[in-house]
Amino acid sequence: MRKVLIAGNWKMNLNRQAAVSLVEAIVQRFASEGTVDLALCPPFVYLETLAPLLKDSSVALGAQNMYFEKSGAFTGEVSGEMLVDVGCRFVILGHSERRHILGETDAMINQKVHAALELGLRPILCVGELLAEREAGQTEAVVRQQMTGSLAGVSADQMPNIVIAYEPVWAIGTGKVATPEQAQSVHADLRRMIEECYNAQVAGAVRIQYGGSVKPENAKELLSLEDVDGALVGGASLKVEDFLGIVAGVPK
Ligand code: PGA
Repeated sequence: MRKVLIAGNWKMNLNRQAAVSLVEAIVQRFASEGTVDLALCPPFVYLETLAPLLKDSSVALGAQNMYFEKSGAFTGEVSGEMLVDVGCRFVILGHSERRHILGETDAMINQKVHAALELGLRPILCVGELLAEREAGQTEAVVRQQMTGSLAGVSADQMPNIVIAYEPVWAIGTGKVATPEQAQSVHADLRRMIEECYNAQVAGAVRIQYGGSVKPENAKELLSLEDVDGALVGGASLKVEDFLGIVAGVPK
């Protein structure tokens, strides 16, 4: 049985006070019954402030990105070691905003995946097609390229530490959520690709989250799909009612 992982991707939102209030409210109200893992990924500058608030809770801290080098002259970058140092357990890698706005390639993301795994940080590796790619019937080819390119050289032993997030780019922040059929179909494709590259056991163990306009209203249906093992939540992770409303949609 794969344990559901709901992760909040705050992106470049909130200020320190709002971040503290949100974390306090989530920690206070999230009653872990052991059926769901929760992670919060705030902006870098708030990680250290929020880490102590999460320390004794069942909610994990994650970051939204990292650089693959350990240290050195890389102005503006943050290393995986720094993330571990402040208490992160997850790191989102290859988010579509980083691929499409910041120009990240599969090769760069692959280096980041290896650097994170070496440090014991769990990558949440994002893949997903543009609307034009979906309309051109290229969804499977695009996510295959992104996933295999980003996971190149990752061993079967390392795979249980990887989380995949399928996020169709046309569904991110648009309110246009994928239909259950669209989501299940791509998730099943991804699991089949993992089986081809590794084996059935690895494919059965890797968690594949859905992301893109997940809300309390659609979470239950998405999270009940066979190959959907959680959600990566952007906008709706910024409000406690919405985020915990999504968590409440996890099948018992
Ligand atoms: P959204 O973002 O929930 O606001 O669509 C999801 C994401 O980009 O991770």
